[in-house]
Amino acid sequence: MALLRLGFLASHNGSNMQALIDACKAGRLDAQPAVVISNNSESGALARARQEGIPACHLSGHTHPGPRALDQAICATLTRHQVEVVCLAGYMKHLGPLTLAAYRGRVLNIHPALLPKFGGEGFYGQAVHQAVLEAGEKESGPTVHLVDEEYDHGPVLAQARVPVLEGDTPATLAARVLEQEHQLYTETLQKIAMGEIMLEGLKR
Ligand code: GRF
Repeated sequence: MALLRLGFLASHNGSNMQALIDACKAGRLDAQPAVVISNNSESGALARARQEGIPACHLSGHTHPGPRALDQAICATLTRHQVEVVCLAGYMKHLGPLTLAAYRGRVLNIHPALLPKFGGEGFYGQAVHQAVLEAGEKESGPTVHLVDEEYDHGPVLAQARVPVLEGDTPATLAARVLEQEHQLYTETLQKIAMGEIMLEGLKR
């Protein structure tokens, strides 16, 4: 079967994106990175894309003032690169309605906690892990889910669990979860590529 064409949206470091690119290169993921989009011209994600020879696009409120123009540009870029599945990987913005409609049921996100707990507005970065520690949770771990109009809200596709350890700080817990994020995102996409997880709207 043809390789699944992935489009990435990432705002910062892009380590999840890199893990997926590496898995593609190693043949552990039957997919092909088609394009990387970032709202942040200085992001590690765009630098990594250029390094890997993957088309890299900076699309933001600066390049496209007005949410509709930006939404159109993002949607057109994904379409032009024949993206089949969109992977949010630390993307700090909402997707617009055009893009969501064009890719409904085919946009994935990874979140660093066990949704539905510790998700939604404000739950990003170290704040997520801080909240997990403050709640006295014994476990945490990443969630891969489908994206809808609300932050961290769509149906859960997969989760992995790690223990919360005595003496954990947000940073130590984040590092333990991030390691699992890289694996879980790769495994989930491979299940999609192999048809073990069927996505509405993905015709293969
Ligand atoms: C990850 O923790 C992910 O769960 C969240 O944003 C972070 C992105 O990290 N959505 P990276 O840019 O992939 O390193």
